[in-house]
Amino acid sequence: MGDIDRADPSLIPDTHYLDDAGWRGTPGYMYYDANYLLITDNLLDFSHLSYVHESTLGGSAKYAGISPKVSRAERSVRVERRLVNDEPAPFLSNLKTWPGNVNRWNIYDVVLPGVLLMDSGSAATGTGAPEGNRIDAAQFFGCQAVTPETENLRQSVLAGFLEDKGIILAQQKILDMDPETPMLPMRMDRALASFRTLLEQAIQEENPESVRDK
Ligand SMILES: [Fe+2]
Repeated sequence: MGDIDRADPSLIPDTHYLDDAGWRGTPGYMYYDANYLLITDNLLDFSHLSYVHESTLGGSAKYAGISPKVSRAERSVRVERRLVNDEPAPFLSNLKTWPGNVNRWNIYDVVLPGVLLMDSGSAATGTGAPEGNRIDAAQFFGCQAVTPETENLRQSVLAGFLEDKGIILAQQKILDMDPETPMLPMRMDRALASFRTLLEQAIQEENPESVRDK
C-alpha cells in the first residue's frame, strides 16, 4: 500500500516469532468484503469474546466485564485485559489442561496502519501470572496485518476468526443500509476510537488532500 518511496523500514514492528525456529507458527489468510476499519475495531474491543466466541476462543460474562487498560503511543494503541480465576478457553483443551481455573491475559498493540501484535496466554490461578510469572503457561504471540484491498479502502484460522467475520460482515450490511448515519462511540470503544484517531492523523499527514474513508 502507499507510496514506496515513503516506506520506512524502521517502522516495521518486531514480529520475529513469525519465522523464528524457536516458535511454532501457523500462517493464515482471510478475505473480508468489508471496510478494513471494522476489522481493527473488532481487534480493539475484546469484550466481544463473550458474545461471539464463547465456545471457541472463550469469553465468559466475567470476561466482558473486565475494564481493559488502554494506552496510546505515537503509532499504536495498547490494550491490556487480565482475567483472574476463570475457566480455561475451550480452544485450549486440545493443547493443554490445568486441574482448575486459570488466569488469562490478552495484551496487544495495534500499530499503524493496522497490524495487531498479540501476547496472549493462560496459566493456573495462583501461580502469579498477573505479576508477570508465567509458570506452566500456554502462550501465544500473534500478528494480524489488515491490508485494504482497493483504492477506496474497502477490502473485501480458525473457527474463532470466522465468527468475527460473520459479525463484521453483518456490521457492514447495517452500515450500508444507511451510509449517512454517523457512528457514535460508547465507553467500551475507547481503544478503537483512539486507533481511528491515530490513523486519521497519519492519513492526513501523508496526504493532506485525502478524504478519509468512512
Ligand atoms: Fe473475535
